[in-house]
Amino acid sequence: MSSFKLIVNKEKKTISADPDTPLLWVLRDILGLTGTKYACGKGLCGSCTVIVNGKSVRSCTLSVADAAQSEVITIEGLSEKGDHPIQKAWMEADVPQCGYCQPGFIMSAFDLLSKNPNPTEEEVNNVLSGNICRCGTYSRIRKAMQIAVKVGNQ
Ligand code: FES
Ligand code: FES
Repeated sequence: MSSFKLIVNKEKKTISADPDTPLLWVLRDILGLTGTKYACGKGLCGSCTVIVNGKSVRSCTLSVADAAQSEVITIEGLSEKGDHPIQKAWMEADVPQCGYCQPGFIMSAFDLLSKNPNPTEEEVNNVLSGNICRCGTYSRIRKAMQIAVKVGNQ
């Protein structure tokens, strides 16, 4: 076990873990931030997407040693009450079916809109094509993205 410092959702955290522990398990099992989901565990589906130092990453493939000293934003960090504009857009478009993949999509959307507030349809598709929804909610996700782009990402 080693000790690592992270800033998670603007709070300083010091945790003990084996250095090769994936960030995903630190977030979920040590810090109790279970909004970030485990699915493939191989960096292929995007369910575990979080923001690390301003970039979206697959937290199942990033070790806590490599994430040490970083600033991490999880779905819980977007808003206290689930009312971030992107989350509101998701509700307005009634996106989720089972909901399991949605935090990953929302974090990918947050990353895109933070850097590019007015993306083209192609840019939206490119970014979100890295995430997988087994319930097939893609058309509603695209609708939610149109709503989110209109209202802005603040
Ligand atoms: S669980 Fe991390 S990419 Fe699938
Ligand atoms: S809403 Fe069920 S996997 Fe996406």
